[in-house]
Amino acid sequence: MFFDRIRRVNEIMVENEIDYIILSPSENLLYLTGLDILQDERLHLMIVSQKGDISFIIPEMTKEIVQKSSISGKLLVWDDGTYPVELLKQVIENKKNLRIAIDDKMWSVNSISIHGIYPKAGFIEASKVMTDVRLVKHKEEIEKLAKISDITDQVMEKIIEEIEVGKTERQLSNRIEILFKELGADDISFKPQVAVGANASIPHHLPSNKKVEKNEMIILDFGGQLDGYRSDIARTVSLGEPRDEMKKVYEIVKEAQEMACQEVRPGKMCFEIDKIARDIIKKKGYGEYFIHRTGHGIGVDFHEAPFIVENNRRQLEPGMVFSIEPGIYLPGRLGVRIEDIVAVTEKGFRRLNNFTRELIVK
Ligand code: CO
Repeated sequence: MFFDRIRRVNEIMVENEIDYIILSPSENLLYLTGLDILQDERLHLMIVSQKGDISFIIPEMTKEIVQKSSISGKLLVWDDGTYPVELLKQVIENKKNLRIAIDDKMWSVNSISIHGIYPKAGFIEASKVMTDVRLVKHKEEIEKLAKISDITDQVMEKIIEEIEVGKTERQLSNRIEILFKELGADDISFKPQVAVGANASIPHHLPSNKKVEKNEMIILDFGGQLDGYRSDIARTVSLGEPRDEMKKVYEIVKEAQEMACQEVRPGKMCFEIDKIARDIIKKKGYGEYFIHRTGHGIGVDFHEAPFIVENNRRQLEPGMVFSIEPGIYLPGRLGVRIEDIVAVTEKGFRRLNNFTRELIVK
């Protein structure tokens, strides 16, 4: 599997005249090798040449992890106390028109030193190569995504049972993390978001000490990780009978989410899916309160291509997986968002999240 992925990378490098791709510990490295290495200030690089030669520049303390992996390559090992970026000269020969792709998530301290060694080279982002390789998921990858989505649905059910007046956003967020681990996930994908009342009008609000109160709506947005693959879900719950405005806004978001999902099929362009959700919300008069794109791809990373956003003319293909998550945010008052992950199939789409989208009143 890793061999096939690296071969695909090499094909794209040839097409785009890229001599080397240099990865740091990241989802790209995980995807190509299965290596899950902690990113810290130490230099860890994987270098792949256009011909497929693989080298690693790694600290002594990481040597064993790489040796035990299924990827074989040249190992250049360094000790704490040396200046390891110089080792690159043993792998990449300086030449005219040298083109190097660098991991988007490489720390700038490292990418700047690489620039220093090859001042005349052309540098591009590794995503120019890796996006196309990671974009369409194989059957086994979709099953992994479905499995973690299934656990995520169970976490949603349990955390909603536990919501009660007086609990804080932080307490609920911490509970979500524990539930993921209890239900068999390897980890969470990002800090679980719990936003009560007015806090929910900030789409990426981080959990605070605000307490759950009666007659408020709560956005819950979280994801897990299993076997390297991620999940993402959002639901909005009402504590006590919702006010008319809350009910109205909820129904609009639900309809936008449903209609956008129904539009997913091979051949549609990403912006068309975004437009369906956006037009429904606009028509009901809340256009200016839908302040983010409709969705993002998901796989080994929590946000990746394809992005379901205005102007993205990429066509959907079977095997692409992304979120559909419209929302309405009324500043200082409330927020509603409903999010599911969907996979594009031969004829349409498959929802990987199946937790109810009806308004739950606690
Ligand atoms: Co999301």
